[in-house]
Amino acid sequence: MFRTHTCGDLRLSNNGQQTTLSGWVQRTRKMGGMTFVDIRDRYGITQLVFNQDVNAGLWEQANKLGREYVIQVTGTVAERSNKNANMSTGEVEILVSELQVLNESKTPPFTIEENTDGGDDIRMKYRYLDLRRTNVRENLELRHRITFETRRYLDQMGFLEVETPILIGSTPEGARDFVVPSRMNPGEFYALPQSPQLFKQLLMVSGFDRYFQIAKCFRDEDLRADRQPEFTQIDCEMSFVEQEDVLNLFEGMMKHLFKFVKDIDFAEDFPRMTWHEAMRIYGSDKPDIRFGMEFVEIKEEVSGHDFVVFDSVPYVAGICATGCAGYTRKQLDELTDFVKKPQIGAKGLVYIRCELDGTFKSSVDKFYSNDDLKTIAAKMNAQPGDLILILAGAKVKTQKALCELRLEMGAKLGLRDKNVFKPLWVIDFPLFEWDEETQRYYATHHPFTSPNLDDVPLLDTDPGQVRATAYDMVINGVELGGGSIRIHESELQNRMFELLGFTPEKAQAQFGFLMSAFQYGAPPHGGLAFGLDRLVSLFAGLDTIRDCMAFPKNNSGRDVMIDAPSKIDQSQLDELNLVIDLK
Ligand code: AMO
Repeated sequence: MFRTHTCGDLRLSNNGQQTTLSGWVQRTRKMGGMTFVDIRDRYGITQLVFNQDVNAGLWEQANKLGREYVIQVTGTVAERSNKNANMSTGEVEILVSELQVLNESKTPPFTIEENTDGGDDIRMKYRYLDLRRTNVRENLELRHRITFETRRYLDQMGFLEVETPILIGSTPEGARDFVVPSRMNPGEFYALPQSPQLFKQLLMVSGFDRYFQIAKCFRDEDLRADRQPEFTQIDCEMSFVEQEDVLNLFEGMMKHLFKFVKDIDFAEDFPRMTWHEAMRIYGSDKPDIRFGMEFVEIKEEVSGHDFVVFDSVPYVAGICATGCAGYTRKQLDELTDFVKKPQIGAKGLVYIRCELDGTFKSSVDKFYSNDDLKTIAAKMNAQPGDLILILAGAKVKTQKALCELRLEMGAKLGLRDKNVFKPLWVIDFPLFEWDEETQRYYATHHPFTSPNLDDVPLLDTDPGQVRATAYDMVINGVELGGGSIRIHESELQNRMFELLGFTPEKAQAQFGFLMSAFQYGAPPHGGLAFGLDRLVSLFAGLDTIRDCMAFPKNNSGRDVMIDAPSKIDQSQLDELNLVIDLK
């Protein structure tokens, strides 16, 4: 038997018992004739004691143990004189009588401790060692709990877990596909699913009524902290539902997860906000509502004062940072540099300091009297001691920049506490987005999303104004999930394809099977998908979703451990009838 207990099991109540443990050498400390070794496994760390006076041979053997050796020991549990309150086993130690090295280890390239000395690249190259660290392992344990509780809730609600294929044709989720050549069909390719969207709709046509899947999805898009090329969705679909049914059921799921995974009870309903409101107040379709600092439009108040920057643009808006009137020149310059970064794109930043004595100081004093500034401050509901920050320009671009500035100020003021969770449903997304470059509409969500039935007449007259029956769940500014009620009638679906610029032939070629399925009694249906990786990292308070994936890709989409992607053998290329001709 390799062990009688794990390295996290033993307590004072085991005092005097014989025990056998197996695990890895975390560290060794030599103190005179005593050697202390910490032995680690998934469950914890236990202190082993080797005493020269008791068994010199064994003590010498212990002194030769290297970091990360795999060992097995037998000994007696004893009370520690020097107790460690930070360890669950910290009241006891093992007086070792037998030691066996099960496997030696090379010296690892970094220390296996909470905060390792290894840089990102080296940790990823040796990810199997990185995964030995407690905090990384805990993220995966949390992931397990979340998927387990998700399955438990959805099972209770009558959902069936159904697997759908990975080798499929293209799915239209808006990103690029990853493709796989087919040996048996020379010159033809599979695409990996960007989501199981079409399959879950087909399962509704088949009468499955309530489907879910913890599904791998693949999208060849530029990577960010919350995006990986290969990620996991909690993908769900339901028949005979309206938007209200879907929102209620999945609000219930999120409350279940908060309760059973994080021990947080949400008594209140999640607030809802229309997409238009979210854009107007926060400049974002995924607002972080842990704090206020809402946008106030002040174009009317600032116009007509010969300040050309404000007069010449359609949109001027500000935010009010409570208690920041004391910001120094340097701090204000830093904020100006922040908004001028190319990825944010503002031309400059105007500030108004609301001094404690009721006067105002601003970067545009030349154009605005104290009374003018007072009027602006009143509109912004600013109090003495507050700092008003103003951006101006084209509406959408400026809203986006002000959104970034608001988030930056929220972070600076400590208003984005990772232990506070503020969920929100964003509803009534527009059905289409207009793209200036290609001069055509794109589906905001995907082409199967139903328009709000009240807006159907607008499809012919003003498609840009049509609201979709689409919704996102946002928590703390993270888009956790999204979905929609689907179109289930061929006629409306064909109209959608037409508006999206698909010829009947192209629609038939890409989605013929779906259109044909819809001719055999498709029930009204709808659903949504949550990003599991984003959910886990939100619950764990992580900055990137990579930290809750066992084997993530780096920012260039590479797995540096297995060295993928990589070239393949000529023989494999020959089998696939492929010739590589890099442009
Ligand atoms: P959508 O494209 O909004 O909807 O994706 C759903 C959720 O998946 C997560 N997500 C990602 N997570 C990590 N890396 C990525 N690259 C990535 N892309 C998306 C997000 C997102 O909210 N088929 C529809 C759902 C539906 O209509 O039912 C879909 O895939 O958390």
